[in-house]
Order: sequence, then structure tokens, then C-alpha cells
Amino acid sequence: MRIKTLEEYKNQKKKFDDNPEKFWEEKAESFIWHKQWDEVLNWDFNTAKVNWFSGGKLNITENCLDRHLKERSNQIAIKWIANDPNEDNINITYKELHAQVCKFSNVLRKRGVKKGDRVCLYMPMVLELSIAVLACARIGAIHSVVFAGFSAKSLSNRINDAECTVLITSDGGFRGNKVTPLKDISDLAMQKTPSIESCIVLKRTDSEIEMKKDRDFWWHDEMMTADENAPAEIMDSEDELFILYTSGSTGKPKGIVHTTAGYMIYAQYSFQNVFQYNEGDLYWCTADIGWITGHSYIIYGPLLSGAITVMFEGVPTYPDAGRFWEIVEKNKINIFYTAPTAIRALEAKGTGFVRKYDLSSLKVLGTVGEPINEDAWNWYFKEIGGERCPIVDTWWQTETGGIMISNLAGINKAKATFATLPLPGIQACIVDDAGNELKENNIEGKLSIKYPWPSMARTIYGDHKRYIDTYFSAYPGKYFSGDGCYKDEEGLFRITGRVDDVLIVSGHNLGTAEIESAIDEHQNVCESAIVGYPHSIKGNGVYAFIICHEKPSNLQESNKEINDLIVKHVGPIAKVDKFLYIDGLPKTRSGKIMRRILRKIAGGETTNLGDTSTLLDPTVVESIIKESIN
Ligand code: PRX
Repeated sequence: MRIKTLEEYKNQKKKFDDNPEKFWEEKAESFIWHKQWDEVLNWDFNTAKVNWFSGGKLNITENCLDRHLKERSNQIAIKWIANDPNEDNINITYKELHAQVCKFSNVLRKRGVKKGDRVCLYMPMVLELSIAVLACARIGAIHSVVFAGFSAKSLSNRINDAECTVLITSDGGFRGNKVTPLKDISDLAMQKTPSIESCIVLKRTDSEIEMKKDRDFWWHDEMMTADENAPAEIMDSEDELFILYTSGSTGKPKGIVHTTAGYMIYAQYSFQNVFQYNEGDLYWCTADIGWITGHSYIIYGPLLSGAITVMFEGVPTYPDAGRFWEIVEKNKINIFYTAPTAIRALEAKGTGFVRKYDLSSLKVLGTVGEPINEDAWNWYFKEIGGERCPIVDTWWQTETGGIMISNLAGINKAKATFATLPLPGIQACIVDDAGNELKENNIEGKLSIKYPWPSMARTIYGDHKRYIDTYFSAYPGKYFSGDGCYKDEEGLFRITGRVDDVLIVSGHNLGTAEIESAIDEHQNVCESAIVGYPHSIKGNGVYAFIICHEKPSNLQESNKEINDLIVKHVGPIAKVDKFLYIDGLPKTRSGKIMRRILRKIAGGETTNLGDTSTLLDPTVVESIIKESIN
């Protein structure tokens, strides 16, 4: 049941405080179960073992699709909008989506995919991506979607980490006026992925590609003979639903694991309540399904709720910066959810593009992925929402599975740049460096969560110890988010940004270590350090401090070579914006780079650099500043 009034909101908070397990049990009751759970919750944050609804048996796709067939079989489930404004949209109904998912489930089964097998999806934002995700879930295979902007190396690393047996890709992908050669990239990746047995290829761009005999199969050929009847695999509540990789402070990306029942319950609960979705509303989340936002709020949350979800193949600036607004007008979008980076980029193009379109269908606006600055918030509120639409500033993470801190649209107070309050059922708190909870208002500290929630990640694939170390060891007994947070005089939360070495660039999580190791591949580079600096559109820009064997004679050439390496090893999203060639890095006596100092220099600070006394060689700082000014 959706919370519709402030009074209900308060009641729900109280209900949770009185009996958390009963609170969640009530949320679980509205779903189709093959067998009821034996126990609602079993948890221990010290060992990071959390089980929700143990013993329950279900399949999430029966809850996304089958259960809606009685009432909304001919209602649109997904409205797909092509990159090219002249190409027709596709409206797929719940009945048709169900049939397609069943057919593709049979394709996967025919290719030998069984419950528990891992399937990698490296696809553009086409309808078939949603179909493939749901088909995996239907047969109990664990989907691992890899964002189609990642390089062959990033793709092969992710495939190998999870030992995926099938890769689903397409000949190419359209984004703006670019065609990404996804199959060529997949071919490169598959040279180094021994676990892949078959590759299913969707035809999208008609690009010329190679099809390897007995390994590569066309999607359309496979679907031609597939049956529309596919019984859903019966899953345990805690069976794995998907893996999604996210960058860490150090080392390789982490395969975040989500399981079935808890994720499902929370995806629906948070979707309905945060966005206040009403029957028939057109809801559009502009994220890519390669990220968690696409998983939870393009596919699962909306479909679980029987909503109409819009899926857009293209980019906000193609053919011009009015594209989003043209889509809103043409399709009468009611709920619009995007990232601050997109808002800032479109704001920079001027209001001319906005004012051309009628945006009066909009009722609710949302933002996610990074802190939104006041100016962008105000522009969004005024120019896009006509000062009429509540903005939900939703804080959450790949690891949390669903929105954790946000106002509920139109129900409780919104405040510019504040995510405001944890959803009923979420016990967020701010702690000091020693892990003590700071209960008073008007304080700043680290954002933690002290009680489990159903959609929390269960582990890092293949490395539970890393899961404990990353999230549960900083403040024992609590989940640590890695974010800083301020609580105002009324107790509203404002996320201040990462406090670790994860950089959020245009809303994408990037690990500094990953980028540095790509840069270090350059034959002239000895060592490098990456930090973020304030960037008016991207939120953070990537700033590289680089020590070379020999000072490059042609800086532009060197910069280009380094960025080419980053594109090759990570992907274009991680390209460096600013380069500084230096002679030494500020290191502590134990050899750790003091990024705090580099961050300040990257931000243009040359004086108040804080305590530098623990540096091995404090004079390094002077010389870096000198270089940065030159
Ligand atoms: O730093 C926070 C930021 O994005 C991080 C999570 O990134 P990812 O796992 O890629 O998931 C992004 C989409 C849920 C967080 O640790 N972040 C996310 N939402 C917000 C935010 N920062 C400020 N305000 C937000 N609303």
C-alpha cells in the first residue's frame, strides 16, 4: 500500500519503530509466493550475513509480469523511445513483454543456461535488454549487466570475475550520432574469457560483424523457434538475482550481489512511495540499465508496480539539447527522474530549448547519483517543473539496491540540495570518525545505516571478506556508505559527497586505482595519482598528477596517448580532463599518497593546504603548486 498522506507517513515510521519485522512482513504480503517465508529477518552486521524472508519461494518475474496479466494485459509495460527521433517508438504491453521474456527464457535454456549460472549482458538501451534481464531472472540465471560504455578489458574482467557462460550483446549501439561497435568490443573481450560458451547477438545497427561458428548466434534466429511458454524457476528468497559491478576505492571493481525477495519488495516499495506513482502515469527514468538506477527504477520497481516505464535509447543532446523536453511533451510524461549532470548540461544550453516545449504533463521530478548544487536544483524546479512539481532528491547506492534517503513526492518536505529523510523502514545515522552516532541536529559526519533493509547487497561476488572490510569494518555494527553527510537544524540530511577514493564523474562511479593503473601502462609514466576537482557540468572532473621518466616534449600528444589508454582499459567515461606533469607526489612516510593535498591543488587552492608535516618530503608540495600555476 502506498503512503498517500503525511499522517500515513508518520504512522508508517511509527509502525517500523514499534516492530520492524512486522512492518516488512506486511510489505511482502502483496506479492505472489510459491511458499511463505519461515523467518522474516536474520542478521549479523559483524559477519555481514543478512537473510530476509528465509524459506520463501518465488520468482520475481511472476511478480513483474504474470500477476499483472489479469488486469493489465493490454496496458503498456515499456514505452521504448529510439535514439533517432524519426524512428518509431515501441509500446510493448504486459502481455507482449511476458511472451517475449518467456521466449527468450527458452532460448537461454536451450543454450544450456541453468539456475545459478551467470549471464553477462553488454547491450545498448534497447527493449531486448529489458527482455534479457527478465528472462535471466525467470530461469534463475544471475544477470550481470555491464554498461555498454565500458572497454573490452573492463568487460572481460567482469565476465571472468563472475565466470559468465553466456554473453548477450548486439552488433552495435546507437547513442547520439555515434555507433558503438559492441560486437567488435565483445569479440576482443571474448579472446580472454574462457568461461563463455555462447554469445547471443541482437541486430540493431546493421553493422558488419563477425559471427564465430558454434559460439555466436543471432537473437532473431534463436527467437524464431522459441516457445512462448516458459514456467518460471522457483527461487528461494535468498537466491541470487543479479550481480552489478561498481568501482571501489582500491583494486578491481566489486561484483555487488543482490538476492531475490528482499530486492523485489524494496524496489516496489521505494518506487511507489518516492515517486507517488498513480495508475496510468507515464514514468521516465533516463538512467542506463547498465547502472543500478536502471535495474531498480526502469525495470524492476516500475514493472513490479504495474507501471508504464519509459526506456530511452539516446542521449539528452541529440539531435539537440531539447530532446528530453521534446520526449516529455510528445509522450506526456508525468514523472521524470534524471541525474544532476544531465540537468547541469541542459541548463548550460539555455532555456530556449526548454521553452519550446509544453512540459505541463510533469507532476514529479527526481534526481540521483551525485549531490545536486543549488543552482541546478532551482533551475530544475523552476524551468522544468514550473515551480509546481516536487523534486525528490534520492540518495542511494548500487549496494543499497533501492532509494534510502529521499522525500516522498508531495508528501513530506523537500529542500533544495537535501535528500531530506530516510524512507520509513530505513535507519540511517551520522557517525563521527570513531563511529559514535551523532544524534543532535546541525552536525556533519559519515553516513551509516544501523539496521538491515530488504534490498541491501548480500556480498561481493566471490569475496565476502572484501564485503565485510569495505562496508562493515569502519564502524562495527553499522553499514558504512562511504559518503559524508550534513544534518541541518531540522534533522534533514544533505549528502556532501564521497569521503573515500571513489570519484563520481557525471554521476558515474570511478575508482581512482583503476584509472591510475591504466595511466601507468604508458611507457613514459612512472607513477600517477587521480583526484576529482569541481566541474560545472560533470560535478567532478578527473585531474591527473603524473610523474614521467622524461618530461613529455609534446604535452598534447602525451595527454592523448594517456587518454587512449584509459579508454582502452576502463572506458571513455574515465578520461582525464586536466593533466599536470610533476616531479614527485606528496607521500606520507609510509608511502601513502596524501590525496587531500592533491584535491586542494586540483581545486585551485594554493595556500590553505592543511597539515603537511607528516609528508616524507614537504617541498614536493611547493613544486606541484608551482607547476599548477604555470
Ligand atoms: O556518493 C553517493 C552518490 O552516488 C554514490 C553511489 O553511486 P552508485 O552506486 O553508482 O549509485 C548511483 C545511483 C544510486 C553514493 O555513494 N549519490 C547517489 N545519489 C545521491 C548521491 N550523492 C548525493 N545525492 C544523491 N541524491
